[in-house]
Amino acid sequence: MMHAVVVFESLWGNTEQLAREIAEGIGVESADVIDAVSAPAVLESDVDLLVVGGPTHAFSMSTEKTREAAKQQGAESIPARGIREWIASLSSPDRDIRVATFDTRVTNPRLPGSAAKKAMKRLVGLGFRPVAKPETFGVHGYSGPVTDGELQRARGWGEQLADAAR
Ligand SMILES: Cc1cc2nc3c(=O)[nH]c(=O)nc-3n(C[C@H](O)[C@H](O)[C@H](O)COP(=O)(O)O)c2cc1C
Repeated sequence: MMHAVVVFESLWGNTEQLAREIAEGIGVESADVIDAVSAPAVLESDVDLLVVGGPTHAFSMSTEKTREAAKQQGAESIPARGIREWIASLSSPDRDIRVATFDTRVTNPRLPGSAAKKAMKRLVGLGFRPVAKPETFGVHGYSGPVTDGELQRARGWGEQLADAAR
């Protein structure tokens, strides 16, 4: 059976909610959902599919500085590290592992820049093999909630990833 890991970063909970829907779409028994703070530097030997998601901050993946700015904007739980730092700590895969990335972004105004694209670039650089194009899900403002239909779309995307990774 395929085994997937979904690693997420989330300051207000929107990206986490989407990560959980994506995992449901992949298949509950085969997908673990882990925060970037506690995700391991070496993936378990039975992982076939890695999905990484985080919020877009300042047109890219978050940094300590942008996470601090989120705190000023009212975010209550600021993670000690985000997907940028986790990816930097991640070992190159010693076998074929497929990867997909997603991010959350404000829909209005729509800004350029995508954390998912940046994350994918680094993961491919480490040797992971893309299974889908980087995906974006919309949120209302900085704190959310996610925009209409995005939770269903996330679940559907998870299903597609599982099919493509098989
Ligand atoms: C410091 C900061 C910078 C941000 N920059 C962007 C940006 O460049 N583009 C964008 O679409 N959203 C931007 N946002 C909004 C975040 O994408 C939004 O807060 C996030 O998607 C919410 O997800 P979360 O609840 O998982 O943290 C920014 C938010 C913060 C706090």
